Amino acid sequence: METKVVRIPPDRVEEHEEELALAAEIIKRGGLVAFPTETVYGLGANALDEKAAEKIYAAKGRPSDNPLIIHIADKSDYSKYCEIENAEGFKRLTDAFVPGPITIIEKKKSIIPDTVTAGMDTVAVRFPSHPVARRLIELSGVPIAAPSANTSGRPSPTRASHVIEDMMGKVDMIIDSGESDVGLESTIVLIKEGELTLLRPGGITPIELEEVWGKIKLDKAVTEKLSPDEKPLAPGMKYRHYAPSAQVVLLRGEDSRVRDFMKRALEKEETGVICYEEDGFEESERVKIIGSREDKSEMAHRLFDILRYFDALEKISIIYARLPDSDGVGLALANRLIKASGYTVSEV
Ligand code: TXA
Ligand code: MG
Repeated sequence: METKVVRIPPDRVEEHEEELALAAEIIKRGGLVAFPTETVYGLGANALDEKAAEKIYAAKGRPSDNPLIIHIADKSDYSKYCEIENAEGFKRLTDAFVPGPITIIEKKKSIIPDTVTAGMDTVAVRFPSHPVARRLIELSGVPIAAPSANTSGRPSPTRASHVIEDMMGKVDMIIDSGESDVGLESTIVLIKEGELTLLRPGGITPIELEEVWGKIKLDKAVTEKLSPDEKPLAPGMKYRHYAPSAQVVLLRGEDSRVRDFMKRALEKEETGVICYEEDGFEESERVKIIGSREDKSEMAHRLFDILRYFDALEKISIIYARLPDSDGVGLALANRLIKASGYTVSEV
């Protein structure tokens, strides 16, 4: 398949109505369009068209038991696709965070095909804030089902070049809008029986959620490795996602010991290191600085690009990274790193 790549900067949407209309036409006709959002790039198809949704699973090589998020561009659309439970709490949540990097799961309405929800009786809905995503959804006139636009098992794409790496020849169009703002996938919450449960941490933090909702619950899969007979509430959390091809090992320990360990490890040519600015290493081919330890948003923004960078560097077989503390966005950052490492944390 021929893939058309178009460039639409986020602040130039009005000048690109024609390309966006073409993208919307592809969606309406049952094709695939990779598009930017404020979290990561998404791989979109008409969420009301079962055949189109099937193409998403095929292009990603995604297991069919892993449901998709549907994207809308108007708050009143939530009630078209799901049963709003706890309307008062739902309103507080959407007033505070929507449009933005949050996905809300509630009971689904029958208009959403089972292929999209992988047979679950709930549906995940997100209203992204990215201007290109919003305009594309508006022009399509349908909700857009979109997982992250990576091949299943690879780190999510935060630049169009990442999407091109994974999806060239497999989709009809890729919209290049530069770097994703947040850099980690959306915060996913489930509203059920009056309770709010965090299924996947993201840019919106547990504290921010609790300020709006009150006490929330954390699905066990957010912080712990589940045993083979346990199921996470979000099926995708069980996969060794976000994984580069080299082994990632997370280091925990006193700063000076971690630095010494990294220094020694770097003597071997097959070692890569992901460190903080404060660690005092010079950035080089095998040393990537993820940001200041004080700035977790910056680290979130850079993580997947760094993992993909090391992926492309064939000689690297082991990557040592710092395990950040779990404050704020740190919970999401630590969650992605822990999964990339397959739960290997080393005390040094
Ligand atoms: O930021 C994001 O959420 C990006 C952009 C493109 O919007 N999308 C994204 O989609 O990360 P994906 O498919 O890579 O991750 C969706 C996660 C999966 O872990 C899936 O299992 C879970 O959401 N999910 C989807 N529908 C669900 C449902 N009805 N119940 C529980 N989990 C669900
Ligand atoms: Mg994904």
